[in-house]
Amino acid sequence: MSPWTSSVGAPQLARLLGSQHGRDAVTPLTGRRSPAYRSLADGIRLLVLEGRVPVAARLPAERELATALSVSRTTVAAAYEALRGEGFLESRRGAGSWTAMPAGNPLPTRALEPLPPEAAGSVIDLGCAAMTAPEPWLTRSFQGALEELPPYAHTHGDYPAGLPALRRAVADRYTARGVPTMPEQIMITTGAMGAVAAICRQMAGRGERVAVDSPSYANVLQLMREAGARLVPVAMAGGIGGWDLPAWRQVLRDAAPRMAYVIADFHNPTGALASEEQRRELVEAARAAGTLLVADETMSELLLDPEVELPRPLCAFDPAGSSIITVGSASKSIWAGLRIGWVRAAPDVIRSLVAARAYADLGTPVLEQLAVAWLMGSEGWDSAIAIRRAEARESRDAVVGALRRHLPDWEFAVPHGGLTLWARTGGLSGSRIAEAGERLGVRVPSGPRFGVDGAFEGYVRLPFTVRGPVAEEAATRLAEAARLVASGATAAAEVPRTYVA
Ligand SMILES: Cc1ncc(COP(=O)(O)O)c(C=O)c1O
Repeated sequence: MSPWTSSVGAPQLARLLGSQHGRDAVTPLTGRRSPAYRSLADGIRLLVLEGRVPVAARLPAERELATALSVSRTTVAAAYEALRGEGFLESRRGAGSWTAMPAGNPLPTRALEPLPPEAAGSVIDLGCAAMTAPEPWLTRSFQGALEELPPYAHTHGDYPAGLPALRRAVADRYTARGVPTMPEQIMITTGAMGAVAAICRQMAGRGERVAVDSPSYANVLQLMREAGARLVPVAMAGGIGGWDLPAWRQVLRDAAPRMAYVIADFHNPTGALASEEQRRELVEAARAAGTLLVADETMSELLLDPEVELPRPLCAFDPAGSSIITVGSASKSIWAGLRIGWVRAAPDVIRSLVAARAYADLGTPVLEQLAVAWLMGSEGWDSAIAIRRAEARESRDAVVGALRRHLPDWEFAVPHGGLTLWARTGGLSGSRIAEAGERLGVRVPSGPRFGVDGAFEGYVRLPFTVRGPVAEEAATRLAEAARLVASGATAAAEVPRTYVA
């Protein structure tokens, strides 16, 4: 097996290095003018630390990179040698050189767990990108569900594919979005996590390569790691512009992954929204490589800026219905406590997922399914989403304003939707800020949680769940944490502790 999982071409690396000008390194450089090889090594090291060049990516041969950068081959050779010495590069005769993360860099090792709600009085929890229920609709939906329960009480209650009424309601929503869907194409699951877990069990077992956005949703990355999949990170484009298609094409071609997991709609953590064109191109590239695309639409209903047009769902670009499996959820649109999600796929894929469910969780609770079916069949769904959007928009604007006031050095792009903002922490370690925040009563997940291999040390993720004075206080505590880190008053970064989804 080759030691690298993807590769970066010389023009691509030159482009990425060129885009760095004016940016600080996570570990600030000395400020002295450094020799050309040192600047090149620092540039590549920063790209690896920030996840813009994945770990285990083959770098171009020295001669090719020298030509692309118009520098001497000696400069590239010296830069590669320096990177090898620092643990950021490994080489083997005949296999080339590939990026690495030095031993001791904090690696994401655990999943994110919710902080108990009781902690809310003392800790501002920025770990969880999930909102309180949009009342009165949650209560009304359960009242409606209770009225519909009696006929189900006369059955055994096991519906491994989901209740027919909810399968139909979910299918109808896809049809209304322009993607004709039959109930046989839907399986109801225990949240989106249940959906991804079922798909991984079936299709991404031990040793299988799975390409993932880098960064990506932490809990899914951990689930895949534990399933034994070999994750192949594909760096996201900067800002909220979606994917880097040349990088995707290259990974799909070079690594030929069995599966790719992507979040096209208000990506967690960056908030990126992939355009129609990017969606079409990614589906085509995946089809050509024989890679199954798993599209996680958990955030898709949380469009916060009405003037932005939402592109069609990824599955609209797969008319044959064989290259994409879509995952959806009521957790962000309505409430995570429902634990209702779904899979949309070809009927034979659904049949095999349903058959495998007998030895997984058997099914999803009936009452919650009836509640979601009630919402989808009434004005409740759209009304609840309108509440969600208004709250998330208010929170986003409050968080953005508070960050700009208290942490003017932090850089971020403001997303048009979703529940998360990905902030570059002004050259400070996100893990250390998270650690200091913990002591100051603000819980925030650091960047490496959302990477595959210890990248994103210079980032934290912030959710749109706090407003008004709480947003202000959260930013004040984060600014204090950043001050502590900048002054060197915190201990060295440890492996990140347990945080929240
Ligand atoms: C992209 C993404 N997928 C899945 C989930 C988990 O969804 P669920 O609560 O439906 O399991 C989240 C939650 O934040 C998410 O952001």
